[in-house]
Amino acid sequence: MNCKTIIRVRDLTKSYRLGDETVYALAGVSLDVAEGEFVAIMGASGSGKSTLMNILGCLDRPSSGVYELDGVDVSSMADDDLSTVRNQKLGFVFQSYNLLPRMRAVEQVMVPLIYSNALDREARAIEALTRVGLESRIHHRPTEMSGGQQQRVAIARALVTNPSVLLADEPTGNLDSRVSEEILALLQRLNEEFGVTIMMVTHESDIAECATRTVQIGDGRVVGDHPVEARRRARHEVAVAPPRASADATSSVGTITAAAPAAGSV
Ligand SMILES: Nc1ncnc2c1ncn2[C@@H]1O[C@H](COP(=O)(O)OP(=O)(O)OP(=O)(O)O)[C@@H](O)[C@H]1O
Ligand SMILES: [Mg+2]
Repeated sequence: MNCKTIIRVRDLTKSYRLGDETVYALAGVSLDVAEGEFVAIMGASGSGKSTLMNILGCLDRPSSGVYELDGVDVSSMADDDLSTVRNQKLGFVFQSYNLLPRMRAVEQVMVPLIYSNALDREARAIEALTRVGLESRIHHRPTEMSGGQQQRVAIARALVTNPSVLLADEPTGNLDSRVSEEILALLQRLNEEFGVTIMMVTHESDIAECATRTVQIGDGRVVGDHPVEARRRARHEVAVAPPRASADATSSVGTITAAAPAAGSV
């Protein structure tokens, strides 16, 4: 296990004013996550899991406390800088996929690359779709895909920028158990084979057993933090293509051609 700390959080709070009252969604969270970990965040409804994920994903700001991502203090960054960090270092997957209704899969996955001037955006999107086993669905729209396939498009979209951390808030919450296992198998392979650091919210203990560590949140605080002793293998393996030799290569047409046949069928 790589020991570099990728996420460092200290005394993070998030409060809301409701009339005369201050409500604490987060009441002082401290947490270190090392590169390559797969952390399952658990806790009762309303305990603050999504609030924490949204702050870790730079979609929201803390009221107080420190959040360092890859050694950079992002808790007090200006909006523009925060957007850049979000785009370059983070990928987010939501329970409801959050795909754009009329776009084809390849266009969905190209969206995060709009901000980069890379010339190979389409090739990179196709490669990301191939990594999640969707090379035969690149021109499909959301209505033409199953829930599991839509979630895999969302994962490809989150991964296309090669983020340091993949954040997933109940990624299998809308899926039946068989398809949930497929998504979990995919996340496990991305974590184990490609070293993607993953933070995943789940309510299910058998899903959390697929992670390497579980963090329990209660009333806006960390109330438990344990390694997973006997990590469970998710069932229903899906094909995942190998990554490109160089993630940041500006031209990769040759690599894509090489990567595509390596992927198995869906
Ligand atoms: N914009 C807001 N204004 C006021 N209170 C909020 C706001 N967002 C969240 N909260 C409160 O913060 C607390 C934590 O909410 P959060 O969505 O993080 O919970 P959660 O653990 O993700 O729950 P669930 O498992 O149901 O998704 C809740 O009590 C919620 O009502
Ligand atoms: Mg939530």
